Amino acid sequence: MELASLDPRGPAAADTAVLWWILLGFGGAVFLLFLVVLLRALRSRASESDGDSPDLIRRFLIGGGLALPVVVILMVFGLTVGAMMRFPALGSSDRLVVELTGYQWWWDVVYPQSGIRIANEMHIPVGAEVEVRMRSADVVHSFWVPTLAGKIDLLPDKQTALVIEASEEGSYRGVCAEFCGLQHAKMAITVVAVAPDEFEAWIRQTATGPPAPTGEAEVRGQTIFLETGCGECHAIAGVASGNRGPDLTHLASRHTLAGGTVPNTIGHLRSWIADPETIKAGTEMEPAGLSEQDLDDLIAYLATLE
Ligand code: CUA
Repeated sequence: MELASLDPRGPAAADTAVLWWILLGFGGAVFLLFLVVLLRALRSRASESDGDSPDLIRRFLIGGGLALPVVVILMVFGLTVGAMMRFPALGSSDRLVVELTGYQWWWDVVYPQSGIRIANEMHIPVGAEVEVRMRSADVVHSFWVPTLAGKIDLLPDKQTALVIEASEEGSYRGVCAEFCGLQHAKMAITVVAVAPDEFEAWIRQTATGPPAPTGEAEVRGQTIFLETGCGECHAIAGVASGNRGPDLTHLASRHTLAGGTVPNTIGHLRSWIADPETIKAGTEMEPAGLSEQDLDDLIAYLATLE
């Protein structure tokens, strides 16, 4: 789904959208009033009349320049505080918790209650509050899924948190909303909201690691993965435990690659491993330097990581 803050699919985003429409309404009304006054002034100048009396001008200045802004600002302030007070309080113990860490330029996603670690994708149940606790591993990033909630920064030295809730099933696109270096624009995240029972099934399935490879190419691919040093940076449950790059335990079930840059297809995976710079210049991922055959086998193995 697009980054549409005016097409909200969650209570926090709905509050924000209502505020936006009210602000647009106020802004539009004041602009129309201004046009009417301007036209009137131009007309009286064209007819070379004496214009409005000083008393009318004085009243207009006090009303339009003082009273109207004070009323509008107070109303908008009240509505904003009201919307803020409807934000759920942090720290509720019966909520699903997701720990999100921002890296240049990808997202590490951990479910501490079930020990699941994935990347660049967050699965949540529909109709439930989810507490997202955030931190950055390097510079300041910002988590923003416009259809679900407002944005909040991920800081290197302090945890921040936000409660999100989706009211409908769907895949919601999120981005990093704070400039964080060369590939800030290629730091996307997908929030997948599913029915609660489907979510429970996802948790059960994902909590178990990937099956051991059985085919000849897949077994060889796993050896190549380890011998090439992929495991120095990437973890795969039961196989490798690198932590500089995204966890690959469930790579094959992901929708995107390279921090949301391209769809997760065999072709993209191949280009990404062979020469990451062509997809995301500046990435820390290095070219694997493999023969075509080795690359084929490695990809055959990675495709088993459901
Ligand atoms: Cu991370 Cu912009």
